Amino acid sequence: MNLYKIAVVPGDGIGKEIVPEGIRILDKVGEIENFKLDYTFFPWGAEHYMESGEFMPANGLVQLKPFDAIYFGAIGNPNVDDTLPAIRYTFRVRKGFQQYVNYRPVKFIPGVPSPLHGKDANEIDYVIVRENTEGEFSETGNFVNPDTPEGFAIQTSIFTRKGIERIAHYAFKLAKQRKGLVTNVTKSNTLIHSLVYWDSIVEEVRKLYPDVKYEKMYVDAASANMVLKPERFDVIVTTNMIGDILSDLGAATMGSLGLGPSGNINPEKEYPSMFEPIHGSAPDIAGKSIANPISAIWSGALMLQHIGEIDAAHRIEKSIFKVLRDGLLPFDLGGTAKTTEITNAILNSL
Ligand code: NAI
Ligand code: MG
Repeated sequence: MNLYKIAVVPGDGIGKEIVPEGIRILDKVGEIENFKLDYTFFPWGAEHYMESGEFMPANGLVQLKPFDAIYFGAIGNPNVDDTLPAIRYTFRVRKGFQQYVNYRPVKFIPGVPSPLHGKDANEIDYVIVRENTEGEFSETGNFVNPDTPEGFAIQTSIFTRKGIERIAHYAFKLAKQRKGLVTNVTKSNTLIHSLVYWDSIVEEVRKLYPDVKYEKMYVDAASANMVLKPERFDVIVTTNMIGDILSDLGAATMGSLGLGPSGNINPEKEYPSMFEPIHGSAPDIAGKSIANPISAIWSGALMLQHIGEIDAAHRIEKSIFKVLRDGLLPFDLGGTAKTTEITNAILNSL
């Protein structure tokens, strides 16, 4: 029987509510498919910071390195400076472990009241491949005389050849296994250095994949197409910030942020990859037992796919779709089913 070591970081807010639900599903599917997950819990996050003064210990990455994968909820608390969660935890893990792919699928789910009426499963089925270690989310910058009338701030984006090449290769390889189309979403008509460089390197890489179709689309047009013509997409490759924004939009077109899963992936498996909902800690609904656990459960399926338990991953996805199609809906999708009721139903249909 395969045994996997999983680091679990539930984090804050609804992260603490939905990660345990995901674990119930992972354990059950492990029983069915004959593998076992051995969890080690880490209490890190903003609430931990309020108690201890640190988000994650200085040797946090050393502690996480031996695991096969990291199962993460979300971090952030209204009483803590909201610039800290990313710098002190998320960016450290994503960059430190070279998780340069942020994999975010968007799929039509039968039974879910999507705002995109009239579309079907063939028309909404694409993946956003977001560069995850550099770009706009680099920490270089400064405030200059911020409290004076002449005050200003600068923040520099960093786009490296290596960073762009590797995300582009990932996207073209993924498209080969899917419908064979890569859409490069960019804004190189106005970001005339960074994204012109991005485009030129994506187009160099493209030449190595002659059987994959390629299209370049500006992000303003892409956001309109995600709503009006989602069938145009198969694999979207894009930068860190554009991908962050578009993936919330993609999840909203499925019906809710509470559905959106993601993987922060180190394709070479040199380091553990991290799987988490695309959303945050949702303090507005934390503690009410109404959070939609599907984002965390589906992220668990992406984790199983990454570690090689493909059948188990499919089994979870199919069960999620079945439960929603049968009409059991959580609050964010207009239903009345509480967090554990959704999990129970998925568990039963596994
Ligand atoms: P959010 O994604 O936490 O919430 C946005 C809206 O979506 C809220 O109305 C929330 O109730 C709803 N929502 C999100 N997940 C849901 C679920 N599973 N079920 C039902 N409804 C759900 O974004 P927001 O409010 O901008 O940020 C809250 C905190 O989360 C902040 O501290 C922010 O920095 C942090 N954050 C952390 C992330 C991470 O850990 N990777 C990512 C994004 C935000
Ligand atoms: Mg985000």
